[in-house]
Amino acid sequence: MRVLGIETSCDETAAAVVGRDAAGRPAIHSSIVLSQAGDHAAFGGVVPEIAARAHVEALDRVIAAALRDAGLAIGDIDAVSATGGPGLVGGLMVGMTTGKAIAAARSVPFLAVNHLEGHALTAVLTDGIPFPYLLLLVSGGHTQIVLVRGLGRYERWGTTIDDALGEAFDKTASLLSLGFPGGPAVEAAAARGDPRRIELPRPMIGQPNCNFSFSGLKTAVRMEASRREPVAEGDVADLCAAFQESVCASLADRIDRAFSRFRAEFPDASDPTLVVAGGVAANRRIRALLSERCAKEAWRLVAPPPKLCGDNAAMIAFAGMLRLERGERSASDVAPRSRWPLDEQADALIGSGRRGMKA
Ligand code: KG4
Ligand code: ZN
Repeated sequence: MRVLGIETSCDETAAAVVGRDAAGRPAIHSSIVLSQAGDHAAFGGVVPEIAARAHVEALDRVIAAALRDAGLAIGDIDAVSATGGPGLVGGLMVGMTTGKAIAAARSVPFLAVNHLEGHALTAVLTDGIPFPYLLLLVSGGHTQIVLVRGLGRYERWGTTIDDALGEAFDKTASLLSLGFPGGPAVEAAAARGDPRRIELPRPMIGQPNCNFSFSGLKTAVRMEASRREPVAEGDVADLCAAFQESVCASLADRIDRAFSRFRAEFPDASDPTLVVAGGVAANRRIRALLSERCAKEAWRLVAPPPKLCGDNAAMIAFAGMLRLERGERSASDVAPRSRWPLDEQADALIGSGRRGMKA
């Protein structure tokens, strides 16, 4: 089985081919990710119309490159899967329409995949980990702790009640004039700063749930910055360092709570595993914190390589392949969904996923 995956839900145009090797293990034959970040930088965020147009212009080339890298022709593809949501509808339409057209022309199955499911299952693709496991998904549009029981069986244990973590990094960068996307810039500035000189709040610590909140922290950064106008380079570094430490303290508390809950629900689990995914998982300070927590609590930490933590199509091809192997396929009139929670039972929290366009 060789599945062509297509990802166009936000500002990356991506295509990949995933299959299985002779031993039945999943294998990534190719994965091409073309970032549109440069197209959106001047606007300080992703502009939906620009994103959709850029996907139209790039997708055919990106698919051709994915096939070429895999050493395959379009006729070698057994199925096509494309992100069906959540995300920006314009971009989703481009990917789904292209995917459906290829599937129809080749008479192979088509599957619309949940982008969050792609992130959730990446560690199964890269590390072959068994179910159940805990997932910390930290990206530009989502901040969630999810119990992954199996394919299609997700329980959301915690989510943000306001901003996503990547969004908080981006907004902090923007108000300190560090550019977009802000996460890597904040991390770089933080490495030069003193995390103790400026005191910032540490949100949600001690709350009896696994939820997150970052808008108060962002406001505190704004107030500390405006008090120091014009903000000197040293202050920018110290603010970034303090911001990152507050984020880490909050994440540590939320993760510890999720660990306790997992232990209570699965007292016999011998090798409890935490998977971290999403663009923010590229942050080295956050990775170090998670390693330290996991080592202390005897958890295994699985962090897919940064290329597969951020948005990509290999995760979409893989999720599609698992569902196809289970006999599923999408109807030809399946429509894109701007909102598509992983856990359909969980209540929508006020303010969460406000942007609703990045995952
Ligand atoms: O998962 P992703 O590539 O795209 C979606 O959000 O769908 O995540 C992008 C987010 C952005 O908000 C970006 O600022 C953040 O991940 N990010 C980081 C780092 N690298 C990317 N945040 C903190 N530290 C980083 N090194
Ligand atoms: Zn994503």
